[in-house]
Amino acid sequence: MKQAYESSRLFLLLAAAAFSPSCSQPGKADNKREIHTPSAGFIADTKQGRQLFVEYCSQCHGRNGKGTKQGPPLIHKIYRSDHHSDMSFYKAAQLGTYQHHWHFGNMPPVKNINPEQTGHIIAYIRQTQHEAGIE
Ligand code: HEC
Repeated sequence: MKQAYESSRLFLLLAAAAFSPSCSQPGKADNKREIHTPSAGFIADTKQGRQLFVEYCSQCHGRNGKGTKQGPPLIHKIYRSDHHSDMSFYKAAQLGTYQHHWHFGNMPPVKNINPEQTGHIIAYIRQTQHEAGIE
């Protein structure tokens, strides 16, 4: 029952996100939903990304991106950039994602995070993947 409730709630959130006004620097997702990305000239900072990751993502993805009981590791070969592009990270943060690779349930959209913050987080994750020999 809980699962069904969460799925319908996620659907409503996805619908709301799909119909929200567009921003000035949209990136195009394959399904035509606009995914917001940082504006031109943005420079990602891995140090800020690490702090933001702890704040916004570690609850489920673990303090060092190694996963928890609530979410998968992102320092994992299926999340390297040839399998999950940076756009899939912007998309996951803004719209959430349905359970499809694992059995942790859905990822809800991350509240109050902007594309720049997500950009810093992606840089941190790519660096950490690289250090782990994943990329
Ligand atoms: C409430 C828990 C939760 C939080 C918070 C969370 N995630 Fe997730 N995330 C998940 C789960 C669960 C999945 C796995 C879905 C699946 O594939 O089964 C996932 C999957 C993903 C994916 C893969 C998406 C895809 O296309 O397969 C990315 C990228 C991701 N998360 C990034 C992030 C980032 C970045 C943050 C922080 C800004 C974050 N997540 C915060 C639970 C969470």
